[in-house]
Amino acid sequence: MGYSIAIDGPAGAGKSTVAKLVAKEKGFAYVDTGAMYRGLAVHFLQEGILPEETDKIAASCKDAEVNIAYEGGVQQIYLNGRNITAKLREEAVGNMASVSSAIPQVRAKLLEVQRTLAREKDVVMDGRDIGTNVLPNADVKVYLTASIDTRAKRRYDELTEKGIPCVYEEIAADIAERDKRDMEREIAPLRQATDAVLVDSSDMTISQVVQAILELCR
Ligand code: C5P
Repeated sequence: MGYSIAIDGPAGAGKSTVAKLVAKEKGFAYVDTGAMYRGLAVHFLQEGILPEETDKIAASCKDAEVNIAYEGGVQQIYLNGRNITAKLREEAVGNMASVSSAIPQVRAKLLEVQRTLAREKDVVMDGRDIGTNVLPNADVKVYLTASIDTRAKRRYDELTEKGIPCVYEEIAADIAERDKRDMEREIAPLRQATDAVLVDSSDMTISQVVQAILELCR
């Protein structure tokens, strides 16, 4: 078992930005488990399945192999041998991932891949259930959160900067809905592990959050 840092929290709390920087600082591999759920979501969409078709999603899991590889230190997601990293951030993919991640077959499929990675390498792994379920014995556990308002504002600024038109109220409502689905699902719901350190990034800079996590590793 390698050294592991688990970072969980709701959408838009800044997990991936922070986790990447912590991984770089420590020389660990960064494992974005959300990208794996998105990878499976790409498969379901390619199969023409709709998010509400739970049985089809469950049955279709057996036809999908999601793997992670590092190219130039950057995580790439492979679906059945094809690099599909460029598709992961699409809106339809995010929505399918949010809904399909509540299905037991989907979670079981990815759990083993995630645990194997942590056995083989020192990792910074981020997601929703890392500290509670995937790596209950992680060396450091962080629950990274921020107010809905802060998270929606960050997302709004990010999209606006890319020239993508968006409505703040819609982003806030979407984030609230995804949080609710993650927190209320039956298996591996999003919650702070009892031994995780709570970090609220609402009034912190990225570098302050990174420093706080590095401090926990000492
Ligand atoms: O973090 P990201 O938005 O990329 O994750 C996509 C979806 O995957 C989330 O909406 C969440 O429902 C799900 N997820 C999960 N467990 C994880 C990571 C992500 O259920 N460990």
